[in-house]
Amino acid sequence: MGVATARTVSLFGATGHLIDVQVDIAHGVVATALVGRPDASISEARDRCHSAVVNSEFSWPSTKRVTVLLSPADLPKSGPHFDLAIAVAVLAADGTVPPQALEKVVFVGELTLDGRLRSVPGVLPMTMAARARGITCVVVPEPQADEASMVPGMAVIGVRSLRQVVAHLRDEEIPHAPPVEPLTSASLLSWRGDRRIGELDMADVLGMADARYALEVAAAGGHHLMLSGPKGAGKTTLAERVPGLLPDLGLEESLELTAIYSLSGGLPPGQTMITRPPFRAPHHSASRASLLGGGTGRVRPGEVSRAHHGCLFLDEFPLFNADIIEALRQPLESGEVTIVRGEEAATFPARTMVLIACNPCPCGDYHPSHRDNRCTCTELRRREYRRKLSGPIIDRVDITRHVEPVPPHEARDPLARPEGSAAIRARVTAARERQAERYAGTPWRLNADVPGPALLRQWPLSEPATRTLENRVYGGGLTRRGATRVHRLAWTVADLRELDRPDGDEVDVALRLRLGDPLMLGSTVPAR
Ligand SMILES: Nc1ncnc2c1ncn2[C@@H]1O[C@H](COP(=O)(O)OP(=O)(O)OP(=O)(O)O)[C@@H](O)[C@H]1O
Ligand SMILES: [Mg+2]
Ligand SMILES: [Zn+2]
Repeated sequence: MGVATARTVSLFGATGHLIDVQVDIAHGVVATALVGRPDASISEARDRCHSAVVNSEFSWPSTKRVTVLLSPADLPKSGPHFDLAIAVAVLAADGTVPPQALEKVVFVGELTLDGRLRSVPGVLPMTMAARARGITCVVVPEPQADEASMVPGMAVIGVRSLRQVVAHLRDEEIPHAPPVEPLTSASLLSWRGDRRIGELDMADVLGMADARYALEVAAAGGHHLMLSGPKGAGKTTLAERVPGLLPDLGLEESLELTAIYSLSGGLPPGQTMITRPPFRAPHHSASRASLLGGGTGRVRPGEVSRAHHGCLFLDEFPLFNADIIEALRQPLESGEVTIVRGEEAATFPARTMVLIACNPCPCGDYHPSHRDNRCTCTELRRREYRRKLSGPIIDRVDITRHVEPVPPHEARDPLARPEGSAAIRARVTAARERQAERYAGTPWRLNADVPGPALLRQWPLSEPATRTLENRVYGGGLTRRGATRVHRLAWTVADLRELDRPDGDEVDVALRLRLGDPLMLGSTVPAR
């Protein structure tokens, strides 16, 4: 009697798969069957679609047998956004709209019983998945048209009701419909946004030459950084300024990141693409689900994914739960996080720079060498606290830097004009371009991404530099893994100095960065 296929996308984490919704209308037992592993949210679609079609004054083939087949059959499918594709496929199979109008179109949207559309989360990653499969047009709830339009080369049709969708497919005049409610999302309210971070400038940070340089190197090579120091030394002040040192996101990076926020509950209407690197600072009491992803109902991306292409700041690091720290290891190694629930696995990207801050003791006042040591902690608690500073994440930190409060004479120096973030960002950007050029054709972009063996084979140090490093390893001051990290850092130092290859001096600076020794900037960093 009639067959038609409409398409939509099913999401697993941030990965989308194209789903064919094939409707077959035939004589037989009057019923609507839904096959192909729909979950409960899609099973309810049958009733919603039926009401929406009838209440939009179209006919539903109610004297026939309607079979809705979702394929590929082996993928689990979920979400109320299947409604629109199912309704449109039924209308096409029944002859209300021409079936060929559904070719190369993806339909996304939940239907209300009276035939209006509802916004759904994840429109951006769905549109990205559609584009990757050669689809050139998406139909989405009107408030989400901006979000879908971020994907280059995609024609986007924003609609308010099923009747408007049918009018588009029949090339008719679009009937009026009341506006669709945008998605409101509590999770987006915690997003600190570009502006807040953009306002924070290195020009406000007095003194701290060593720490400033450490931040610059971390930003240039994408290295993880640990700042330690007593209360009020400026650790948070420094860490919050790291995203300001990073260049704007490229188009693909921007899309990936915005897709993650789209999944967290949709972007507010009018929200443009996220183009600046994010800065996320979860509290040490954060749950595993909020940090890594998960939660009840739909699996949501966690802080480590919201920090994708930006910074994850773990302030008061020793107070984080040890299990959670352990669980962060996988995303930090692979650049993505996989959450398994039942037979479903959701994968989200999570390539981020980790910034860690810690105090010398729980009260934060321990100055072993000072006369005014006001620490009130017992030796046992101090040791307990410091013991947390070993383990899987700390092992992966490339740069450690101890900071002390800036002495008053430096803080009050009327001639001090600290360099601003824009100037540092320009050097970081140039250094990143050198890396991108060097690693062109590989999966890596930054020095921090390159695995040890590839580094040794393809991008070795100079002869004398290798000797300097080897001597440190034989002398017992450095592990083999530490040496690889120094090797990567030396490349970043060389990239910032616009050198073709790191030499002994770059290795020396890298060693100091790694081991937390003073940098002696006057002698080792050339004048700029
Ligand atoms: N080098 C600096 N230049 C300008 N202001 C600074 C500097 N260091 C610290 N401050 C100021 O001192 C205050 C405390 O700094 P901050 O919060 O960064 O310290 P912290 O090391 O994170 O301390 P805590 O261990 O308590 O978290 C902030 O208001 C900050 O602006
Ligand atoms: Mg702080
Ligand atoms: Zn203390």
